[in-house]
Amino acid sequence: MIKFLPSYVGSKKQWVERLAPLFKGEPFIEYFCGSAVLSANLASNAILNDIDPFIHMILSRFEDQIVPESFSSHDYYAKRGEPDWWRYVYCLQRMSFSGVFRYSKNGYNVPIKKSKDGEPIGPVDVREEYAEALARWKELNPVVLAMNYSCLPYEMAQNRVAILDPPYGGSKAAYNVSDFKYGAYWNFVDGLKNYAKAIVIFDRLSNLEQHDITPLDTRTMRVAGHYDGDTEAIGIYFAGSWLSTWGTEEKEPKKRRKASKPKKEPAKTAEPPEEEAVEPVVVKHEKGRLKSLLSRIDVASSETIDLDEPTEKPKRKLTYKPASLKEVTCKKCQKNFSYMYSFGKPRSKCDECK
Ligand SMILES: C[S@@+](CC[C@H](N)C(=O)[O-])C[C@H]1O[C@@H](n2cnc3c(N)ncnc32)[C@H](O)[C@@H]1O
Repeated sequence: MIKFLPSYVGSKKQWVERLAPLFKGEPFIEYFCGSAVLSANLASNAILNDIDPFIHMILSRFEDQIVPESFSSHDYYAKRGEPDWWRYVYCLQRMSFSGVFRYSKNGYNVPIKKSKDGEPIGPVDVREEYAEALARWKELNPVVLAMNYSCLPYEMAQNRVAILDPPYGGSKAAYNVSDFKYGAYWNFVDGLKNYAKAIVIFDRLSNLEQHDITPLDTRTMRVAGHYDGDTEAIGIYFAGSWLSTWGTEEKEPKKRRKASKPKKEPAKTAEPPEEEAVEPVVVKHEKGRLKSLLSRIDVASSETIDLDEPTEKPKRKLTYKPASLKEVTCKKCQKNFSYMYSFGKPRSKCDECK
């Protein structure tokens, strides 16, 4: 798995394999990209947005990471307080407590991970994984933005798979931002339906259900490395409706049909020890820059894209069975319905008449 950041709270790495049959090789737009693990592994090209200015700095200048042969706990303590700490973040995030990404005006502000004997871990050598991630970053050549998601014009999502993974309403995960307006967010989701080729949305199960989105799968969430008992769910909007099945389930191995059961973990403190007060960093919006960035993106294109026929030849060997969305009329009730088809006999009846 390619990782632009070795760890990140709320990373969607567990969903990469599940989404590959549907969306590998498609252009993506991630509105809350964080570590951007979905685009890193699946997208043909990507617009990556996150309001956090340091995420922007890291993802837009990924070639500027400093990754020495050996990075020790001594380096960790020394580098995290330097003004350019973000250039060591590939090493820092590899050694930090539970993938938390937190900083203040004094630098990167996360305690170091400890081994079983209570000693700080390290030294680490992450040159190989960084080199792999850097090669992929160059291939992806993402457009990276640091804006409030709602400032991105809907047109940017045209012909793209839109990934929505906001801070979940009511959950405990902390990012370097707060004051998220959930009412405005759900209006934004509604508007996006008219533009994006598909929408992949993540949220707490109860939040998706409250908005009549069929959860296709669920997973128990972790906060600071520990299961907090809350459930994350995924929904997919395609061709005018929220999908009710993945469509590939008939031939999926049994263990992948249901959300995997969380392993029992000893109860510990959920939050990393506070090292210092976190001062929010003021985000500079980039409206001026947006115009020139838009010229890199084909927002005017009106071509229709069929999921059966990828418009761009994937650069890397595909290791999944391609699935396609079928729209058919139900034999019994004569209503139109859609489902993801990948193997065997095509369906002739909708979910209600099956
Ligand atoms: C759940 S995390 C995303 C994780 C990401 N999908 C991954 O795989 O690493 C949510 C992200 O939303 C960002 N965020 C919070 N409010 C935002 C806003 N108003 N606009 C854009 N990004 C925002 C946070 O900085 C955080 O990185």
